[in-house]
Amino acid sequence: MQTKSMSQGLRNTIFLGIAGVFLWACSQTGEPPAQNPLHIPPLLDTKGGQGVELTLRRATHTFYPDIESQTMGINGSYLGPTVRLHQGSTANVSFMNELGEPTTIHGHGLHVRGGIDGGPQLAIESGEAWRIAIPVAQQAGTSWYHPHLMGKTAEHVYKGLAGLYIIEDENSKRLDLPKRYGVDDLPVVIQDRRFSDGKLLDYEPTPQDMMDGYRGDTLVVNGTIDPFVEVPEGWVRLRLLNGSNARFYTFSLGDGEVIYKIATEGGFLKAPIAITALTMAPGERNEVLVDMRGRNEISLNAELLSADPEDQLPIFKNPVRRVLELRVDPELDPGGSLPEELNTIAGFSEEEIDGAKKRSFYLGMDDDQIEKAVASHDHHNMFTVNGKSMDLTRIDERVALGELERWTLTAEMMPHPFHVHGVSFLILEHHGREPAEADRGWKDTVVISEEPTTVLMRFHHEATEQTPYMYHCHILEHEDGGMMGQFTVQ
Ligand code: C2O
Ligand code: CU
Ligand code: CU
Repeated sequence: MQTKSMSQGLRNTIFLGIAGVFLWACSQTGEPPAQNPLHIPPLLDTKGGQGVELTLRRATHTFYPDIESQTMGINGSYLGPTVRLHQGSTANVSFMNELGEPTTIHGHGLHVRGGIDGGPQLAIESGEAWRIAIPVAQQAGTSWYHPHLMGKTAEHVYKGLAGLYIIEDENSKRLDLPKRYGVDDLPVVIQDRRFSDGKLLDYEPTPQDMMDGYRGDTLVVNGTIDPFVEVPEGWVRLRLLNGSNARFYTFSLGDGEVIYKIATEGGFLKAPIAITALTMAPGERNEVLVDMRGRNEISLNAELLSADPEDQLPIFKNPVRRVLELRVDPELDPGGSLPEELNTIAGFSEEEIDGAKKRSFYLGMDDDQIEKAVASHDHHNMFTVNGKSMDLTRIDERVALGELERWTLTAEMMPHPFHVHGVSFLILEHHGREPAEADRGWKDTVVISEEPTTVLMRFHHEATEQTPYMYHCHILEHEDGGMMGQFTVQ
């Protein structure tokens, strides 16, 4: 165990405190309306075997008017299209790499075999295409794709390489939910970025950034700064993805009104849960419904959480920013409602749980190891899982196909989002307690701490030694810094 340099922590605290007071003062006088229409990524459907072509390129993107930033994009200048998958059919997707350097594309949340999971072993060389046929077996949900090359994930995502997968099934088609993409079913990818004079800063993390994760103070939503979106005067569904490298957010509506959480990463909850605040770590997705009936507009806001909540002095507050302004356009017809029931989640019996294979994982930030890594400029061996930094030549765990797994997860120094490839899990215990009702859904990324979190899952696809699955911290600097391991399923 170790604590970070006090002066840095204090400096952050004071900086965030001042920003918080400033924003508080602004919101008292009423924020000006949002300036820019939210970019809605194009929707590409894989229905009926129709192939989807995605091309990764270097680009320039205009975040601020007339100022060009160097980015990477997929069929565009920043982020990529939303790809729709259908349970029971095969999706043909091809990723063409024209970046001028290798990368990989991982399907985060997809239940697919290791060979098409897109982990670090599956590099796509520049000039090459990676064509995969995805047999879609899982239930409806919101997943995403992003690079996963060893040591390069954080930079590639930061520059703009990511996009959504939307999975549909019979249940999602039958439910009377808002489902018109871009009208009342909106993709909302939230990221924080660093700008200088309106330009996206290059990705150059300092050792402190590696520790805290690379965080910025400007929100970018689907690549748009200060966005608004016009919606019908009815129910609106937001598919939230925290696509940030390291930032955690607590989302809420401008007037403290309730939001209905309907889905976690791996699918619908049993029933909608009314909440007023929703904390999301990098990699997590949630679907929520917002009731726009009888409103003109409402803001979705986010409290920007710092790396060290414990360092915060009580008189200071984290900054709160507007993520997205929803404005009613009376010309748009409302559609869909808030269903009373959404899904059945069978879970596991006591007997199954007792017989599960137990494993435990501890995410480590050891002082000596960090100092050594920094001194030798070896940023890939700063952090550990169970005392070891990621090694592509080592298989850390061997899991049996179809057997119930019970993983107990702990971590030091700060909250970390733990992610597992190829599967969805249920939470048995969260930070040493019963999980909250709103967390009793299928997930693939969960925030862990010093208090134990236990998850239950069964793997249904094979991952061999050549193309194993990963588990890792989804703070991308921690992942690139070695807080990752790999396992086979056979
Ligand atoms: Cu979203 Cu292994 O990653
Ligand atoms: Cu993943
Ligand atoms: Cu971490």
